[in-house]
Amino acid sequence: MFVSLLFSAAVVVAAPSSSAIRNKSKPNQFSNQLLDNLADLQGVKPYIRVGGNTQDFALYDPNLKTQIHGTVVPSVSNDYPYIISIGPSYFEAYNTWPGVKFSHGFNLGKNTTEAMDTLISTVPLACKALSNDNFAHWELGNEPDLFARQVRPANWTDGDYVDEWLSKTRIIQRQLSRACPQMLTHGEYKYIAPSFAGTANRLDPVKTWEAGLNDDNDIGMNSMHNYMGGADSPGVTLAHTLMNHTAVIKSVENHVAVMINLEEDSLAKGIPYILGEMNSLYHQGKPGLSNSFGAALWGVDFNLYCASQNIRRTHMHQGTDYRYASWQPIETNKTSMGTKAPYYGNAMVAAMLHGGKDEHESNVQVVNLPTDQETESAYATYINGKLARLAVINMQEYNYTGTDAVSSSRPSATYQFHLSGISSKSLSVQRLIANGTDAITGITWDGWSYNYELKGGSPVRLANVTIGQTVQVDSKGLVELQLPFSSAAILNF
Ligand SMILES: *[C@@H]1O[C@H](CO)[C@@H](O)[C@H](O)[C@H]1NC(C)=O
Ligand SMILES: *[C@@H]1O[C@H](CO)[C@@H](O)[C@H](O)[C@H]1NC(C)=O
Ligand SMILES: *[C@@H]1O[C@H](CO)[C@@H](O)[C@H](O)[C@H]1NC(C)=O
Ligand SMILES: *[C@@H]1O[C@H](CO)[C@@H](O)[C@H](O)[C@H]1NC(C)=O
Ligand SMILES: *[C@@H]1O[C@H](CO)[C@@H](O)[C@H](O)[C@H]1NC(C)=O
Ligand SMILES: *[C@@H]1O[C@H](CO)[C@@H](O)[C@H](O)[C@H]1NC(C)=O
Ligand SMILES: *[C@@H]1O[C@H](CO)[C@@H](O)[C@H](O)[C@H]1NC(C)=O
Ligand SMILES: *[C@@H]1O[C@H](CO)[C@@H](O)[C@H](O)[C@H]1NC(C)=O
Repeated sequence: MFVSLLFSAAVVVAAPSSSAIRNKSKPNQFSNQLLDNLADLQGVKPYIRVGGNTQDFALYDPNLKTQIHGTVVPSVSNDYPYIISIGPSYFEAYNTWPGVKFSHGFNLGKNTTEAMDTLISTVPLACKALSNDNFAHWELGNEPDLFARQVRPANWTDGDYVDEWLSKTRIIQRQLSRACPQMLTHGEYKYIAPSFAGTANRLDPVKTWEAGLNDDNDIGMNSMHNYMGGADSPGVTLAHTLMNHTAVIKSVENHVAVMINLEEDSLAKGIPYILGEMNSLYHQGKPGLSNSFGAALWGVDFNLYCASQNIRRTHMHQGTDYRYASWQPIETNKTSMGTKAPYYGNAMVAAMLHGGKDEHESNVQVVNLPTDQETESAYATYINGKLARLAVINMQEYNYTGTDAVSSSRPSATYQFHLSGISSKSLSVQRLIANGTDAITGITWDGWSYNYELKGGSPVRLANVTIGQTVQVDSKGLVELQLPFSSAAILNF
């Protein structure tokens, strides 16, 4: 049974560190190139959420001469600074990548005098920097469903959260009316909220909407976060946790349940449900898994499945040195600068969702097609109701390095589709491929490499990858496609 649902949004990267964006005098061109590639594939440039738990730590220092000053506290995490000051030039970053729209996250977690001063003094800086056709949404607080016992009392309720969110967003609104009054008109004053880590933590998303989260009618997107599991959770493997369509369905199921409950209670009506932060394995990903080609294939399955379930946008969490990052924007002593395996999954998803320059003009719908194995999945894209593309993802593991490496030739699987109303037609094939599941480089989308070493991230067609294949729909409407294990492809109509 096929149910067509609307999806019109970008696959998105979120929460880059300031150094990943850089300032006006030195914008990060490599990152901008990779974002432009996705814009070329999808028709719109990704939207970027600047936020994450560091939005709840950052304090403003008007005298800071650099954009950001962070101190890593190893007992909290080695992956990001816990003590953070941002200076006036922090906000320059919002004007370095042409065509990108940003959401800006304000602090809710800290409830100190300094935090209140930060809120009051950064609204004018953020709103001026975001007044150049580059504003997407505001956000206040990251994962407040985890605040109780950390930065709030154990008995902090949904109602307490809503009261605090409303009173602090009203402060933001007051500051905006002074500094950027034009941003309060034209329906532009909107937040992504509640930005919960999950559907079943200390706060309940449905109760939060019931308690009046949208009393001021200022929520633009109903944002929740998602991960498939934890980087350090026992039993997490590619085959079990990521390259597994059943696990993907199970992970998205909770969100679908929340959407149904909200709809039954007539809450959040007409407000798109999004995953405002997501990626493979929380705590920034697991080495060997989250940075492998296998994770790229997971990313294709996960994002297309979200699209099929009416999740209208996904922001794939990024950060310097993160194991699951789509790219490393700068050279550090932990990670080499470059395009990473997950980016190639982003490219294929962007190609599958392409709907033209004006996202309102063409109605892009994605449908999940039934398949036999949990190591495979298939999707159809319809544009204005007409079949435009089929995607097939094979997630059977095939290692080409290490002690488990297979010495025999790479197996493949054959997929057959029966198309009604389409016959005797030639379809072009575009493939997402690498040497194996465990590849971390040498990956291509339709023969294109976006690697930094080649041309700074600009697309380069590799000579050693087959492109330009076609498959034939026969007179009965049957079409067959072969996929090597651990690869994916799009058929174009
Ligand atoms: C701008 O970025 C460059 C390169 O990272 C850095 O050297 C410079 O200090 C930055 N300027 C500010 C004001 O942060
Ligand atoms: C936050 O701080 C304000 C001002 O000190 C105080 O009135 C309020 O109770 C605090 N809220 C929480 C949840 O601690
Ligand atoms: C919640 O806990 C705080 C102490 O952490 C206490 O002062 C307050 O009375 C409690 N509130 C309720 C409603 O029980
Ligand atoms: C795939 O995921 C499902 C749901 O989490 C799980 O029950 C199943 O064991 C997984 N398959 C493999 C091969 O681990
Ligand atoms: C790596 O870089 C970080 C941040 O610049 C620095 O604090 C650290 O000392 C460096 N580590 C080594 C081993 O050089
Ligand atoms: C591929 O390699 C990983 C990591 O060594 C291993 O866990 C997995 O079982 C291997 N898969 C196959 C199909 O050999
Ligand atoms: C992929 O396999 C080819 C053929 O064996 C080999 O030449 C190439 O170096 C491999 N690429 C990587 C990144 O290992
Ligand atoms: C094709 O060439 C690239 C760049 O030299 C290399 O990384 C990749 O592994 C090669 N792929 C195959 C299948 O040989």
